[in-house]
Amino acid sequence: MKSARDQLTAILHEALAKQECDLVSFTLEHPTQHAHGDFATNAAMIAAQQKNQNPHELATKIVHSILEKKHELLDKVEIAGPGFINFFLSKKYFVDRVSTIRKEGESYGKSHIGKGRTAIVEFSSPNIAKPFTIGHLRSTIIGDAIARLLSFSGYSVLRDNHLGDWGTQFGKQIVALKLWGDEDALAKSENPVKYLVDLYVKFHAEAEKDPTLEDQARAWFVRLEQGDPEAKRIWKMCVDWSMAQFAKLYELLHVSFDMMLGESFFEDKMGEVLQELQNKGLAKESEGALLVFFENEKYPPFMVRKKDGATLYSTRDLATDRYRVQTWGKDVLIVNEVGAEQTLYFRQLFEVEEKLGYVKKSQRVHVGHGMLRFKDGKMSTRKGNTIWLEDVLQEAIQRASSFNPKVAKEVGIGALKYNDLKRESSKDVVFVWDDVLNLKGNSGPYIQYTYARATSVLKKAKEKELSISEKYDRLQDLEITQVEHLLEQFPEVVERAATEYAPHHVCTYLFDLAQAFNAYYADHPILSGGDLAGYRLLLTSAVAQVLKNGLTLLGMQAPEVM
Ligand code: ARG
Repeated sequence: MKSARDQLTAILHEALAKQECDLVSFTLEHPTQHAHGDFATNAAMIAAQQKNQNPHELATKIVHSILEKKHELLDKVEIAGPGFINFFLSKKYFVDRVSTIRKEGESYGKSHIGKGRTAIVEFSSPNIAKPFTIGHLRSTIIGDAIARLLSFSGYSVLRDNHLGDWGTQFGKQIVALKLWGDEDALAKSENPVKYLVDLYVKFHAEAEKDPTLEDQARAWFVRLEQGDPEAKRIWKMCVDWSMAQFAKLYELLHVSFDMMLGESFFEDKMGEVLQELQNKGLAKESEGALLVFFENEKYPPFMVRKKDGATLYSTRDLATDRYRVQTWGKDVLIVNEVGAEQTLYFRQLFEVEEKLGYVKKSQRVHVGHGMLRFKDGKMSTRKGNTIWLEDVLQEAIQRASSFNPKVAKEVGIGALKYNDLKRESSKDVVFVWDDVLNLKGNSGPYIQYTYARATSVLKKAKEKELSISEKYDRLQDLEITQVEHLLEQFPEVVERAATEYAPHHVCTYLFDLAQAFNAYYADHPILSGGDLAGYRLLLTSAVAQVLKNGLTLLGMQAPEVM
């Protein structure tokens, strides 16, 4: 069934063509006040401007030709102000829509906006031998939701984890392990990654007293880049311990990847990039290092090779995107979900990639997330005052068991995810457990609870042998509520969230829908609704379906009991 928006767009185009106003691009919006209808358009005003006509007169003609056709979709069409047109959808449309949701089920809300296109969604990307931070958790949660939104919108999505498994820090790690570490103790340790991180912290403390340590570290990284077996052995050990820890976290979070092409994968692919940069005259040597300078100093210079010859994070990113385009096609869409503190870096990167002719800027998207703070400020690995993420996840699960121990994991992890997704990702978050798990506020548990309430009504109906009306014809008995209005809007909310890479639109929507349904439930007896029970059950099942589809897009589970 076509959405009201699609139908209205077609109706408007037809009416405009009748008035010989072709190719008008207009807005079609939901007015904030119900009195102004379900949709409002400025089409007549735009067309009048083009044709130098009176907008109100043109609107009148357009409305007239629309009304002549007696569309089932519309109840009423009105002109407002200087020439806006307001549309009121019919009861029949809303009721048909509710039945459609039941028919389309899990597919309700899908679109084809990405049809035929490949999108690489790169997210999570933690660093080896360092803690998986709250920032990586945010990236994992937001990136996973974006990947889901894009697949739901027709893209063929590849989920990539760009592990930080290469770079000068491995030089430091090797020096620290050789000077103060013990490989047997590492292997036996309860938390080997913590053992490695402690060594890394020690390295920084010692290097303040003894600067030659930094030189040793650089030398070890150069050896690693040259393929020295001992350097590689230690590096590999770090990778294995970290990967084992990450795997546990991903399992707990229910997040998976199609590939994990970490930075090390591009180790042998950077030479070509450096060559191209030089051949195209884009990079210049400066004090031994190789830098890209931007016109009018638009951005600070972008270093692609250090003076000791070592490559950088940036060199690996260039090689990564070159590889992506070569492997997945010239118009692949590439989305990086990485902390907002790297915004300038990504602007520089996209600019350089465009200059190199790898991609057009419209193909490159950086979705940055803000910082998450517990009350005492940002966390840093170097100082060692890290909060271990596994502890946070376990605490969420344990706190959620106060609702219902059987679904503690679904609710606890869901609550953490929702808390990260409910606001624009670039905003900072102050983390407060009571908000995260608040059953009365805009939280994951509240949405899940509403879903459980709807499914429990449906279960009780079954026990009472009450059946759902698949169709409802006695429209005069019905009052169309906020619930029907919201259900109709789900597909466009999903589309907006996908095109803006902004899962928070889905959260805002789910919260509105949950509130509307809970209000409906308080005012409209469902099981004892007499003749209306069948329709009310149909509506309840549509609400349950849409809540579930929305939760799935957010990477959350929808338990049937809470
Ligand atoms: N490992 C990096 C970090 O923890 C994030 C990598 C992001 N992706 C990228 N292509 N640069 O900061």
